[in-house]
Amino acid sequence: MAGWKAEHGGRALRHRGIGEVDIRPIVTVPAASRRRVSFTARMIAGQVTLGFQAARSHRLVAVERCEILSADIAAALPGLRQLADLLLSEGGRKKKSDVRISVNDTDTGLDILLLADGIDEFAILPPLTERAAALPKLARLSLNDTLVMCPHPPVMRFGAVSVTPPPGAFLQASGAGETALRGLVLEALGSARRIADLFAGCGTFSFPAAAGAQLVAVEGDAAMVSALDHAARHARGIRKFKAVRRDLFRSPLSADELKPFEAVIFDPPRAGGVAQVSQIAASAVRRVAAVSCAPATFARDARILVDGGFRLNWVAPVDQFRWSSHIELAAEFTRPD
Ligand SMILES: C[S@@+](CC[C@H](N)C(=O)[O-])C[C@H]1O[C@@H](n2cnc3c(N)ncnc32)[C@H](O)[C@@H]1O
Repeated sequence: MAGWKAEHGGRALRHRGIGEVDIRPIVTVPAASRRRVSFTARMIAGQVTLGFQAARSHRLVAVERCEILSADIAAALPGLRQLADLLLSEGGRKKKSDVRISVNDTDTGLDILLLADGIDEFAILPPLTERAAALPKLARLSLNDTLVMCPHPPVMRFGAVSVTPPPGAFLQASGAGETALRGLVLEALGSARRIADLFAGCGTFSFPAAAGAQLVAVEGDAAMVSALDHAARHARGIRKFKAVRRDLFRSPLSADELKPFEAVIFDPPRAGGVAQVSQIAASAVRRVAAVSCAPATFARDARILVDGGFRLNWVAPVDQFRWSSHIELAAEFTRPD
């Protein structure tokens, strides 16, 4: 599997007519390091089943124990099942639809978000709070848009800056993967002093890059932009920083708006970012640090940059989705002088 994964990015690029690329050796994260995960809980024959939704199907793959999860998430599985049991058995519910459970294992403990339709939140909060109190290493528990309890605010440290991500926020899937990707992104940025971080999330790359450069972080999710903004206002050790909310699919930063920036970090969701990358290709930006979790859309977007005059200097595969076919890629693009 590691050999197939290491080659995946190269194959996708060749398919788009980009050969002769320096593909670096794959970095594989340790087992039991997955810190961001989404479960589904369902009532099956009167019993709560907690598991992963199979790809492109309604089937639920039950999880009793799991080699990929961080130790704290693995230890919380029985407690999560208990919370799901409460929601799935709740008297007032007309329809016993699935409960989604998203867990982020942050630096200060587990940030758990329960998503359930048709719940009488007023009635469920007391028993939910009682059961949640028994969860090991709980930082925060939310039910839909309601904060249930927060024994410790969840915190992530990105470079010199502490961020409290919103419930269900995007984080890189493992700490080791984040460390590897951060090193590659900083390398690809070179000595750029004015940077735009596009699809910035909660600042995984923005804050480390902002230690040595002025940075504008652009993200579509309002809650994550608020988290970025709040963290930046309380931060020390970063240069001028601005967080902006913008839908980069509908309204990408134009080539003109990109004029002030020497370098761009580009880390779109799986669909890639054709509209945005086309503007980067048409701009005067000289460096792109790209990160992608989808080799096919990465290769399509890389083709647009190469056609716009960029050179693809290297691609580095990072395997933070062990025992699956998924692979993360980081890459450096520069405009030749
Ligand atoms: C792969 S994540 C990367 C986040 C961040 N770079 C990190 O490493 O933590 C992609 C990010 O793009 C954001 N996003 C998705 N669609 C977007 C859109 N149309 N406009 C702006 N941001 C979007 C998501 O909310 C998510 O934070």
